[in-house]
Amino acid sequence: VTDFRSDNTHGASPEILEALARIAAGTITSYGNDEITARLRERCRALFETDLEILPVSTGTGGNALSIAAMTPPWGGVFCHDDAHIHRDEMGAPEFFTNGAKLFPIPGPNGKLEAATLAGVIDDIACEGRTAKPSCVSLTQATEAGTVYTPDEVRALCDVAHAHGCRVHVDGARFANAAVSTSASLADLTWRAGVDVLVFGATKNGALAAELIVMFDQSLADELRTRWHRGGHRYSKMRFLSGQFDAYLTDDLWLRNARHANAMAARLAAAMPEVLMPVEANVVFARLAPATIAKLRAQGFLFYDWPLFGEGAVRLVCGFSTAEEEVDALVAALNSAR
Ligand SMILES: Cc1ncc(COP(=O)(O)O)c(C=O)c1O
Repeated sequence: VTDFRSDNTHGASPEILEALARIAAGTITSYGNDEITARLRERCRALFETDLEILPVSTGTGGNALSIAAMTPPWGGVFCHDDAHIHRDEMGAPEFFTNGAKLFPIPGPNGKLEAATLAGVIDDIACEGRTAKPSCVSLTQATEAGTVYTPDEVRALCDVAHAHGCRVHVDGARFANAAVSTSASLADLTWRAGVDVLVFGATKNGALAAELIVMFDQSLADELRTRWHRGGHRYSKMRFLSGQFDAYLTDDLWLRNARHANAMAARLAAAMPEVLMPVEANVVFARLAPATIAKLRAQGFLFYDWPLFGEGAVRLVCGFSTAEEEVDALVAALNSAR
């Protein structure tokens, strides 16, 4: 069986498992007041070249909902792309954690929000003054369509957000894939462009379950820490959450894993004239004939239909453990199934 369903179907990197086995010995301070969490905070400060605060969580949904809630009152408006995970896949968690804020999904080509469109939508909501109070703009990096915002694109969106009194949240479930896709520094991709909070993912790229809320706007830290605790995300044995992330950042494991996943997606896309979007990270969307899809599935290839992108659309995701041979097998099967 060759699995292109999701990066979540991949297991965990041995480096992370070995690190957890090492740090399992002995006693250590609980609830995040441990030296591993402190080291992780320092590592992040060095990596992003700025002062910042962190909160480890075990799901992306939790990280997104908590961060957005810290920026958005119950009467607030949250602006996101129409494909956004927070809009389509989180069972109303952002609405729940904000106590009822309203999400405004906005269309845009290739899974990306565009600054002019965003400004128009926020202006309309702000002017009429009776739907919601614009509070937060949420971007996904890399996007749900497998594309990547450039630092200039992030800056343009952040400028619009800040000019309208909104803060900016980035859903970085695939932030590693975005980071290796651009030559930009992490600082240029985030806080220097105006990002206030990044939810930095590791689960999809080699961790067991670890995401990190990275607060560049530290005025949010007190409230977010309280929400994190109250929302049930404060692990008692935090060493195991922080330890996953610490190992993820050690010896560039996160970059190596993401580079590999992106390279596998590029290899696949290069052999597929049917691609639907620019392949800039580790996800390939393509439109295939129903007979081709059936033949691939009959040979055991696993992948999801993606009706959001129209009839015949499929999503093919490469992960950190996708082998070159698996990509080549899919390409060969496609060549004989078309
Ligand atoms: C864009 C995006 N954001 C966030 C998540 C995180 O979701 P989870 O709560 O399953 O960790 C995912 C996972 O599929 C995702 O694709």
